[in-house]
Amino acid sequence: MLQGKNILLGVSGGIAAYKMANVASMLTKLHADVHVVMTENATKFITAETFEVLTKNKVYTDTFDERPDDPVHVPHISLGTGADLILIAPATADIIGKIANGIADDMLSTVVLPARCPVLICPSMNVYMLENPIVQDNIEKLKRFGYEIVEPAEGYLACGYEGKGKLPEESYLVQRILHVVACEKNMAGKKVVVSAGPTEESIDPIRVITNHSSGKMGYALAEAAALRGASVTLVSGPTALKPPYGVTTVAVKSAEDMYQAVTAAAADADIIVMAAAVADYTPVTTADQKIKKQEGDMAVPLKRTKDILLSLGQNKKPGQFICGFSMETENLLANSSEKLKKKNADMICANSLTQEGAGYQVDTNILTLITADGQEQLPLMSKLEASHRIFDKILS
Ligand code: CTP
Repeated sequence: MLQGKNILLGVSGGIAAYKMANVASMLTKLHADVHVVMTENATKFITAETFEVLTKNKVYTDTFDERPDDPVHVPHISLGTGADLILIAPATADIIGKIANGIADDMLSTVVLPARCPVLICPSMNVYMLENPIVQDNIEKLKRFGYEIVEPAEGYLACGYEGKGKLPEESYLVQRILHVVACEKNMAGKKVVVSAGPTEESIDPIRVITNHSSGKMGYALAEAAALRGASVTLVSGPTALKPPYGVTTVAVKSAEDMYQAVTAAAADADIIVMAAAVADYTPVTTADQKIKKQEGDMAVPLKRTKDILLSLGQNKKPGQFICGFSMETENLLANSSEKLKKKNADMICANSLTQEGAGYQVDTNILTLITADGQEQLPLMSKLEASHRIFDKILS
């Protein structure tokens, strides 16, 4: 996702500097060209060699360091101007103060000044240092000048205090970077609703009827749309997944909850993707108290739930695109084509439960995209990649 992108990591002298090795590694795995500039104090927490091994690029600590990959240009200028994004993390009170006041007395504070790209700053320090009005004033000043501040997390701080000031998790920092520089923003201005995960139908206060859906496909769809600039509402049944950055998540439990939430969000949506595994049946009544076991067998009477996709198809707004999913164990394509017509959908993504690497729980999928114009068979790919192919098709 970061092929051809030049990311500059600015590491200043806080304990969280060690986490940046993981960030550098994750960015490199996404094919970014990662350059690292460290303050002298940062080298007390993590070595330059660590970053050099991970990024395969020279690490800069001194304003007069030379640049082996670009001997023509002045390094303290070209590192900043050549970057597609700069992330300063951890950003100490010192580096925040320097940038906010135009001080350029070391390599890191200097490379930021000529930069023309987005600069993300992650304040990370003791809670009381963070609360200091001078630091707060500097942060506000940076915001006014267009720098993006990544809010520090709360928790146990290395200094022994409890509170705000932690550097957020590495995967979150990577998400923030992706949100700015990954993907062409070709869904900007579009409102997308995605449903994900299973539903839970309560039998009594303890037992539920549910299914094996992990939510991975729906969450990948929400992530892909957000990375492409869409405004995304994710209506999610119970899952163990973290909502992707930049997505509005509505948590639901039952098929009825999901119907209400999706219908409300769909009113002004441009694209709706029903990736959730919605229960087709729910108990006729939910017992108020735990049902005690009896001698012999028992049965739970069930009634039909509302078919959300069908209802969306029947009430389709002009210009709205509705996409459903279909999971079958036999006659996949015939049954899925039937659903396309029956539910008045614009596309059905059919996935077979019988193929390895497809369906529930896994990170990959094998889909056939079925529209009125025909079928497109996608090979085995990650659910995120498949999501991009789905949106490519919808946009086309
Ligand atoms: N779906 C829905 N509301 C339901 C059940 C399903 O919106 N109550 C949606 C799913 O999110 C999916 C599509 O309908 O996008 C297909 O679901 P599936 O269960 O595979 O198909 P059904 O229409 O339920 O067909 P059948 O039970 O006959 O296989």
